[in-house]
Amino acid sequence: QKDGYPHYMIKEIHEQPQAILRTITPRIKNGLPFFEDDQIPDSFFEGVTDITIIACGTAMYAGMVGKTMIQNRLQIPVTVTIASEFRYEMPILSKNSMVIAVSQSGETIDTLEALRLASKYTDRTISLVNVKGSSIARESHYALYTHAGPEIAVASTKAYTVQCATMYLLACKLGLSLGKMSEADAKEFIKTLESVPDYIEAVIAKASDVEQLTRQMINSEHTFFIGRGLDYTLTMEGALKLKEISYIHAESYAAGELKHGTIALIAEGVPVIAVATQKHVYSKTISNIREVKARGAYVILLSMDEKITDDSICDVHISLPQVPDEFAIFEAVVILQLIAYYTSVGKGLNPDQPRNLAKSVTVE
Ligand code: F6R
Repeated sequence: QKDGYPHYMIKEIHEQPQAILRTITPRIKNGLPFFEDDQIPDSFFEGVTDITIIACGTAMYAGMVGKTMIQNRLQIPVTVTIASEFRYEMPILSKNSMVIAVSQSGETIDTLEALRLASKYTDRTISLVNVKGSSIARESHYALYTHAGPEIAVASTKAYTVQCATMYLLACKLGLSLGKMSEADAKEFIKTLESVPDYIEAVIAKASDVEQLTRQMINSEHTFFIGRGLDYTLTMEGALKLKEISYIHAESYAAGELKHGTIALIAEGVPVIAVATQKHVYSKTISNIREVKARGAYVILLSMDEKITDDSICDVHISLPQVPDEFAIFEAVVILQLIAYYTSVGKGLNPDQPRNLAKSVTVE
């Protein structure tokens, strides 16, 4: 079943281009998003004033990507709330609020209960779910299935990238419905989304470089992940992935926040994984990287800047294929998944079966 791969996790990392294609292709018609086969009427998108995303863990981090991207693009307020918190809060929702529940398994109890609560306030709930017929899919007003295929490894990889891709499709559809995106913009956006699988292939081809660099991480106790904007949202996922399968303490920080306390933890050789793909904040992130480098951090930098040679910035530079900034998350996260995977394997652990974790969390 592992098709010659040593673990399910690496197999599933490799499956991402196909999983994205399977998920988005049937939902694109004439270069535009198309949800008729999912039986979602256009009226579902019309008049939406705000969005609340509810989810747990990796699915919640896919929600963070969605939030940042949708707010930047469509300029409508988006909130991401951890489902276990949402279910005990007083939701601020109206009948024009869209609620998106994100879940690979479709059975996470906190997400299900949060969805049930949200349904009392709005008829515009939609789930992004990987398992057909699951409780969350059944109990939301509409379900947009992700077609990642079965995810066996406990640490989620392909489910996350297809959740992000589906979120991008949804954002595009919403942008058109609300008049926040022109048809030409939407076509350009979808065209780039369709090319994401090819870029991911190009990134996966760098796996052996990533394996090399993780040698420096195997004996680390602490690691930090930094980025700004969309990069920050995906460093949260990168840090979670490393923690859960390598048992190394990993923290994700907004790059500008580090100097407000946490930089005290940067000592000689502490790995800092920096993601800098967003042009409007690129120079700011680079100056934050210089701050940690000057304090002895071992810096691994992921960027689309081909000109990085300066070893005052980083120890290792992973160059990502050039794409519009919004789409760089798909490439960068694959490198973060590979860093977690090879660190785990390098420590002699089984990345498919991390201690204390279950694939589906059906208890509170
Ligand atoms: C981490 C991971 C978990 C899940 C979370 C939600 O790799 O897999 O954080 O993302 O338990 O699970 P689902 O998506 O099934 O609701």
